[in-house]
Amino acid sequence: MTGLHVAIIMDGNGRWARSQGKPRWRGHVEGVESVRRIVRAAPDLGVSVLTLYAFSADNWKRPRMEVGRLFWLLKRYCVSERNELISRGVRVTAIGRRDRIPTPALHALQQLERETASGTKLHLRLAIDYSARAEVARATRELGQRVRAGELAPEQMTEELLTQAVTGGVPMPDLLIRTAGERRLSDFLLWELAYTELYFAQTHWPDFRRDDLATALADFRARERRFGGIVEEEEREWAVGA
Ligand code: IPE
Ligand code: IPE
Ligand code: MG
Repeated sequence: MTGLHVAIIMDGNGRWARSQGKPRWRGHVEGVESVRRIVRAAPDLGVSVLTLYAFSADNWKRPRMEVGRLFWLLKRYCVSERNELISRGVRVTAIGRRDRIPTPALHALQQLERETASGTKLHLRLAIDYSARAEVARATRELGQRVRAGELAPEQMTEELLTQAVTGGVPMPDLLIRTAGERRLSDFLLWELAYTELYFAQTHWPDFRRDDLATALADFRARERRFGGIVEEEEREWAVGA
């Protein structure tokens, strides 16, 4: 897969609902519709990996009823989207902790992961009970265990190995989108975002459409990524000894 990796912090479901005089959970229901639309649109727009922040490790602080709704919606999504995801060649995997996900949602998720495993058009990664700091800690623990087992010397614990342990080999995101106006990362992909382009949209997630994704991607494509270097023309200038 050679397309872009786009990560999205899907924010603003609650505010969308409030602005319509509806309860917060209605915003989450509409948010799932946005997920459907964006997953459909992504491959056509040149995206091959899509990482969606669906539930953060800090979202457990929300009322039990809201958390319950969110996992119920996750389960329903996994069941109802199965056929479409398979026919569209979407492979679904989850990142984050699994031991606290309510059993019905966990089973539906695991089944979806198994059944979509051969998809090659789009890799859809759902971040659930996810914390970037916890992921870095987990990866460090895993490497530490390999050191203790004598498989790895501490000097061999390089940035590349840690990256591999954190990401499982998935390329770094090219673009991070956060909807609903907030300009923070809320513990999402901290290690992976080192050189990711950031894009903040005012639109609440339930109102986010294919065109909004296209606009974000056009903005991204007009940017100049330098990764600490300088642009090519300037490099040429140095080459001729100017
Ligand atoms: C994002 O919308 C969905 C989740 C965090 C699960 P919010 O529920 O955070 O919506 P706001 O930020 O309160 O508007
Ligand atoms: C981040 O949004 C988590 C998800 C979108 C799943 P939050 O709404 O939880 O983040 P904060 O509380 O505004 O930082
Ligand atoms: Mg929010």
